[in-house]
Amino acid sequence: MDKVSDPAPGVQNSETDVDEPAAARRGPRHVAIIMDGNGRWAQSRGRPRLFGHHAGAKRVREVVESCSSLGVKYLTIFAFSTENWKRTQAEVAGLMSLFRRYIAKEMQALAARNVRVRFIGDRVRLDAKLTELMDQLEKTTEQNDGTQLTIALNYGGRDEVARATKRLAQDVAAGRLNPEDVDEETLPKYLDTYVLPDPDLVIRTSGEARISNFLLWQSAYAEYEFIDTLWPDFTAEEFAELCAAFGARDRRFGGIRK
Ligand code: FPP
Repeated sequence: MDKVSDPAPGVQNSETDVDEPAAARRGPRHVAIIMDGNGRWAQSRGRPRLFGHHAGAKRVREVVESCSSLGVKYLTIFAFSTENWKRTQAEVAGLMSLFRRYIAKEMQALAARNVRVRFIGDRVRLDAKLTELMDQLEKTTEQNDGTQLTIALNYGGRDEVARATKRLAQDVAAGRLNPEDVDEETLPKYLDTYVLPDPDLVIRTSGEARISNFLLWQSAYAEYEFIDTLWPDFTAEEFAELCAAFGARDRRFGGIRK
């Protein structure tokens, strides 16, 4: 099992510890994106839905590339949810093929740009060729300390919490964890995202105002932007504008303004 999906309880996150303190920055450190609207974008052009997914994949590169100049250290993108298996067999197969091709094609460019890639989600249902490529991309980029890109693939927030709880319960049953020590610092160490800071900003494209099971635990205090743009039309400029708007928000985390 890879590092992210098999956390060692109590491991400290050295990467986030050395980052700039939140108070010293205005832009978001971690942005998470629900890339929605590929299907509608394609259908409005009289093309099949997969055409939209291919157009959407092209936007990923531009957004990843803009992260370093915007000071976005962590980018997490929702590529395939645990609910997306309900789509037609043809669309699911087309998406899986697109992910395989994307990883193979982008591997060297991501490595050369100092991007580190991680995957979150349950790999059990993914085919072996795809999981091999995912492992390879993680391994190839694991020393990179630039943009930290996380791709959520067969990911669902409820599924993640359920899998985390199962491992936590196993640790309790084996005597490795005292139930008295379980608190809100403990559970996130079992989540797929245990090495990542919580997202500061969650963006959803295509005009839908819902979170669709994405980063449920982690987004408790995130700021949200629901924008009308369909994902294949999303640009680096719009991304920069949303990051700038985030800087003007008054984040109180349940407290009061000082
Ligand atoms: C939602 O749009 C999008 C998806 C389920 C797939 C997201 C995938 C990509 C952007 C492509 C590539 C990603 C990577 C990482 C290579 P939708 O199909 O639900 O659109 P609709 O709401 O208009 O039908």
